[in-house]
Amino acid sequence: MRLDKFLSETGTATRSESKKAARAGGVTLNGVAVRDLSVHINPETDFVTYMDTPVIYQKYIYIMMNKPDGVISATEDGNEKTVLELLPEKYRKMEIFPCGRLDKNTLGLLILTNNGALAHRLLSPKCHVEKTYRFECERPLTQEDEALLCRGVDIGEKSSTQPAKLHLFSSRSGEISVTEGKFHQIKRMFQAVCNKITYLERVRFADIPLDTSLARGEWRELTEEETKMLESH
Ligand code: URA
Repeated sequence: MRLDKFLSETGTATRSESKKAARAGGVTLNGVAVRDLSVHINPETDFVTYMDTPVIYQKYIYIMMNKPDGVISATEDGNEKTVLELLPEKYRKMEIFPCGRLDKNTLGLLILTNNGALAHRLLSPKCHVEKTYRFECERPLTQEDEALLCRGVDIGEKSSTQPAKLHLFSSRSGEISVTEGKFHQIKRMFQAVCNKITYLERVRFADIPLDTSLARGEWRELTEEETKMLESH
């Protein structure tokens, strides 16, 4: 990888910033100042400093965000505010993207990463990654609705939804866990039992619970343990 790309991908400096720093002797490679940033380095073994600070190479980044209302799960959009805009520039340079989508008015746990292969696995229907949502709905759920939602309902796809787990707090609220991620899945499941979701928040994804100390719109990197849990899929 080129040294200037390495510095930008690690969120250290833009290409023009690093060019300026290199000219002033502020970029070193294995202890020697480098002026030509087109030099190729091995990020795993070479030691780089920028303005006297070691540059730590992190191949993959995983961020947990508590998605707020009114923001869309996309990297960019001409009209709407995106979740990427809630992150510092550093992460945007690392080309991270949301791992799956939450609707504009759905709140809660969203994972963002630059690990495309893992995101693909986590979102694959074959992988059966469990997602848990806290919900409120318009009408009380009957025992029959509960049984239907758990067994699988027709949401207009080729086959019925996969079995879900339901834990009710009241007849109009609770948590539902599913292993699929079809477009508007939970809202369509409730429509299938003649009901309507009025509140939806993802509280768990792939065994990782939403960190409730994060306010809406706040984010943090995953801990080592959480990263291991995610990468084990
Ligand atoms: N199901 C939905 O209907 N919406 C979401 O945002 C996530 C799951």
